[in-house]
Amino acid sequence: MTTQDPEAPEGVDLDRPNAARIYDWFLGGDANWAIDRQFGEQAVKTFPMIKTVARAGRDFLGRGVRYLARNGIDQFLDLGSGVPTVGNVHEVATAVNPDARCVYVDNEPVAVAHSQILLEQEGVADRHAVLQGDLRDPADIWKRALDTGVLDPNRPIGLIIVGVLYFLGKDEPVAQTIQKYLSLLPSGSFFLSSHLTSDGLHEMADADSRERIMNQYNQSSTPLHLRTRAEFTSFFEGLELVEPGIVYLPEWHPEEIESKATKKLANDPSFVGHLCGLGRKP
Ligand SMILES: C[S@@+](CC[C@H](N)C(=O)[O-])C[C@H]1O[C@@H](n2cnc3c(N)ncnc32)[C@H](O)[C@@H]1O
Repeated sequence: MTTQDPEAPEGVDLDRPNAARIYDWFLGGDANWAIDRQFGEQAVKTFPMIKTVARAGRDFLGRGVRYLARNGIDQFLDLGSGVPTVGNVHEVATAVNPDARCVYVDNEPVAVAHSQILLEQEGVADRHAVLQGDLRDPADIWKRALDTGVLDPNRPIGLIIVGVLYFLGKDEPVAQTIQKYLSLLPSGSFFLSSHLTSDGLHEMADADSRERIMNQYNQSSTPLHLRTRAEFTSFFEGLELVEPGIVYLPEWHPEEIESKATKKLANDPSFVGHLCGLGRKP
């Protein structure tokens, strides 16, 4: 754990903990501040498996990107990409296809600044870019993503929104936003996503702890909103779902699971509380 705080990029709200930085702390990164670590430590006390669950989310992202890269997708638009950490999309994709391309988007300045540093160090500006933006504005994001010159809008793209949509409030038009992105993507593109679900929550033995975590997030700058399986499934409307469909994270291509965190959860997949899926635009 970092004991000294890094210098904060411009625009960073250090008065309240933030999802990108808390998640970075859960994953063992150092792009977090005292306020985020206090939040994280409290969350671990309330729900000791939270770091394992966060890692299982990150692992799903890796499995999904690897699947897509192996199936010919060589360009990615990663929305709510987070602070760079183990298994960034461009790294996973490049390991399969050295020509893979990626545009990252996040609304948190820390995530964007750290991504910029990483991409500058790697020095492949024609294949990777990062933008600060709000995914709720597809027209703006799409225009700016294409302006980077990294993506070819005439060839299939892997649209990734993993571990993000539960930060959009229950009154947000999430399904319409996704449909807008899908309408812009060419045929043969994919949508990879995951979401915290409210299904079965109240029957869980540790329902109280989960409720307390939710309340804790609701005090941060990034409140959480759980959705049902039916709501999450509706985000894939018009797409062909890739096997095994909408499932809990450890159930998605379990043969590809490498991480101890996800393996730990494999005996009780619903414990993770996250559904996931991959759909193809016909
Ligand atoms: C839990 S992290 C997930 C990071 C990464 N996608 C992963 O799965 O490892 C959620 C990220 O979504 C970002 N985010 C939340 N709401 C957003 C929005 N409206 N537009 C863009 N990014 C957003 C947060 O800043 C944070 O970096």
